[in-house]
Amino acid sequence: MLRALLIPSLRPARPPAPAGFAPASLLSDTLRMSDRTDTKLWHPFSDMSAIRGNEFVVERGDGIWLYDEAGDRYMDGSGALWYANIGHGRREIADAVHAQLCKLESYSIFGDCAVPPALELAERLSALAPVDNGRVFFGMGGGDGTEAATKIIRHFWTTQGQPERRHIISRTNAYHGSHAFATSIGGIPANRTNFGPLVEGNSNVMWNSAQALRDEIARLGADNVAAFFCEPVMGAGGVWPAPEGYVKEVAAICAQHGIIFVIDAVICGFGRVGTWLAAERYGVRPDMILFAKGITSGYMPLGGVIVGERVADPFWNKSGNMLRHGQTFAGHAACCAAGLANMDIMERENIIPRGRDLEGVLLQALISELGDHPLVGDIRGGHGLLAAVEVKQSVLDASPATVGQLYKACREQGRIVTRPLLKGIAVSPPLTITEAEIKELAAGLRAGYDAVWEKLEA
Ligand SMILES: Cc1ncc(COP(=O)(O)O)c(C=O)c1O
Repeated sequence: MLRALLIPSLRPARPPAPAGFAPASLLSDTLRMSDRTDTKLWHPFSDMSAIRGNEFVVERGDGIWLYDEAGDRYMDGSGALWYANIGHGRREIADAVHAQLCKLESYSIFGDCAVPPALELAERLSALAPVDNGRVFFGMGGGDGTEAATKIIRHFWTTQGQPERRHIISRTNAYHGSHAFATSIGGIPANRTNFGPLVEGNSNVMWNSAQALRDEIARLGADNVAAFFCEPVMGAGGVWPAPEGYVKEVAAICAQHGIIFVIDAVICGFGRVGTWLAAERYGVRPDMILFAKGITSGYMPLGGVIVGERVADPFWNKSGNMLRHGQTFAGHAACCAAGLANMDIMERENIIPRGRDLEGVLLQALISELGDHPLVGDIRGGHGLLAAVEVKQSVLDASPATVGQLYKACREQGRIVTRPLLKGIAVSPPLTITEAEIKELAAGLRAGYDAVWEKLEA
């Protein structure tokens, strides 16, 4: 950085950025690539000792394409963090947010205050959601939704005179966020280490076995079980689509025992599995649905939980039964305006069914490019527009850094930006991707896998 200040001519020349609504550069010249040796930006879920000074800076987006600070183009193979459902660079959303900001940036919705976009978005979500008379509790992301849901659940059972009904069951591999409750109920052990005692009274059952849920309820006693959380396709845990019939079966088990059934649609919602709130695809009506990510396609932060009649009733109809929970920016007007504009686009362009329409195309493309690759142990997908290309265990045993190398090689050799998962690479492009571009994506991944394989062989 100092070098750049003193000898500006050392900085690489940058090609002009293509036209778009974003300014050509948001980074000051003193923070330009290759001048950085460190960073002040702490990246979530990231090994900062490796990243400091080595950041991949995305400066601009247009549809499924991303441009780095040198102006080089990449395909967004992961929809950022599984959220860029309508693709990048939509002026319509920027305009909606701008209009809202000019009118009123926001106003707190605590107490009796409200803002029009929050009211409208809550109505719209309630009308769409396959829950009875849904009420919408907003936060800024998926983890906020989980935190609100778990506290609503505990509060609900307390008001029902069953305070001992506190235990929350979720599944192995599950990810519901990184706040305290969400960390406690998650099913990825690595995410729970180093923090000492977390919120107690939770357990995980085998992700693919409805019988495991029955057994756990029997072990605990149904009267102690408050809720069951279920991601129809587990994302962060490795892309594990629920077995055929599983979601319906666990919904029935919960109903039989009065257990609150929560669908986590944070990844699966807003078209990723082909429906608005994921639950519709499985023919279930959960008590609660968590949403985030695709609700704004990432244009503004937003998430929350839709709560059905049964659970919301004591809060709506029992005087003084106040939920003492919520964030300052809950129902933020500009964020809700982004959500409404995003949903308008999804409706107008018929984007929602694409997650289902393209699921087979993505899986087939990955299998034909990578099915016989010497590094690949498993390719999972075919249910919604998301997949994982997992590395063989023998390769990981011999070379644990392989996943990180693949992630980088797919970007550098294949020009595809993906996400490293536990044992492989996650793929979840914007839902606007075409079939031809899906083939391009798979070919780009192949180039990355080939590059890593050649190095391992050498
Ligand atoms: C299924 C699921 N639930 C909840 C969350 C948490 O969302 P956020 O990161 O917005 O807090 C995530 C994030 O990836 C997720 O994948």
